[in-house]
Amino acid sequence: MRRRLTLIAAAATLGLTLAGCGGAEKPAESAAPPSEATGKVGVFTWWADGSEKVGLDALVKVFNTDYPNLTFDNLAVAGGAGSQAKSVLAAQLKAGNPPDSFQAHAGAELQDYIDAEQLEDLTSFYADNKLTEQFPKDLVDRLTVDGKIYSVPSNIHRANVVWANVGVLKDAGIDPTKPATDLDGWFADMDKIKAKGKTPLAVAGSWTQVQLFENVLLSSLGVDGYNGLWDGKTDWKGADVTMAIEAYKKALSYTNTDRDSLSDWAPATQLVQDGAAAYNVMGDWAEAKFAQDGDVAGTDYTYFPTPGTAGVFDFLADSFTLPVGAPNPNGAKAWLTTIGSAEGQSAFNKAKGSIPANTTAKTDDFSEYQKSAIKDFSQDKIVSSLAHGAAVPVAWLNDLSTAVSKFGGDGNVAGLQDSAAAIADKFAK
Ligand code: GAL
Repeated sequence: MRRRLTLIAAAATLGLTLAGCGGAEKPAESAAPPSEATGKVGVFTWWADGSEKVGLDALVKVFNTDYPNLTFDNLAVAGGAGSQAKSVLAAQLKAGNPPDSFQAHAGAELQDYIDAEQLEDLTSFYADNKLTEQFPKDLVDRLTVDGKIYSVPSNIHRANVVWANVGVLKDAGIDPTKPATDLDGWFADMDKIKAKGKTPLAVAGSWTQVQLFENVLLSSLGVDGYNGLWDGKTDWKGADVTMAIEAYKKALSYTNTDRDSLSDWAPATQLVQDGAAAYNVMGDWAEAKFAQDGDVAGTDYTYFPTPGTAGVFDFLADSFTLPVGAPNPNGAKAWLTTIGSAEGQSAFNKAKGSIPANTTAKTDDFSEYQKSAIKDFSQDKIVSSLAHGAAVPVAWLNDLSTAVSKFGGDGNVAGLQDSAAAIADKFAK
């Protein structure tokens, strides 16, 4: 992604014209400001149920107060990480039938839509709402392509968090306040859990396995090695990657055998909540589930960075767009205004487990976990999540997900390594 942006910037300096990188020139707005918009605003997300729907509802509540003349039209398509939604959305965009706004991940995934000229330029919207000053510079940089910004982030999530059942750890003689600091130490703890007849590590189907894979890669290869997988600086065929895939194989050996039949992240997290499993590697949307289910941090559950990734924040952000051809662009801008606002971000993130992208949002009533994430984000090294659209374009992620799923069945280390290397060759720019 960085390299891609650098290339774009370099090309711009040379005065080259890059096909597909200019964004749409056609202005979407009619004369009326968002405050005078009426009608329906159709918003496409994958926050269709459970704690994610609670988060969306909290945002919609602020929107309804901000814009009583507009009606929120919930176009959510279920499936964590957009596992179903992204292909539905792609078909709608292709058919020229966009919603008024849709959820996309900051980073490479957004770049796909920008390259396809499916998004309106929101740079003047940022200026009008003074958003550039209110979001962290690093985030704005990640959202800026060729000097333009095409989306408004609603949050910042962290993907390298282990959620653990305190009672299960204690029963196995593991101190919940002293998590392992590397993968080997963690596997040793998992052996203790296994000896107690519990599932050490809960995981669900395809995309949650990709997120686990991403965590093991980050832990094994470190920040530079991990980043290099996406910009061509790390050789996918190297011995260090072989060792990382071996470690992933070992991690999978501790997981629930019914993993592929668990439809989504929530049932895997539930195994930890129920005390059937000790650990679940999951983004911090899990914090929302624990909290909303009445679990108490420190007593019922605990959390820590995936062993070997302390000091690293594996980042993703949900960002909302104004698609070219949106039926109600002013209504969409009203929605984006609520999303960018301090009030919208406080209400939404408190319920979603994430942290506000808007640094002026109030967070004093946020959970201890969220407060720790705010602190970590301000001081950790930031890397881009693979499973959640930050590191690579959707097509790359889809191909790699297929390879990772296959590996879950055959455990063929060389097979996964060769496939991942071939996929990187195909997509790396
Ligand atoms: C991510 C998304 C999060 C959360 C998660 C699980 O891709 O960014 O907000 O929804 O999927 O569905």
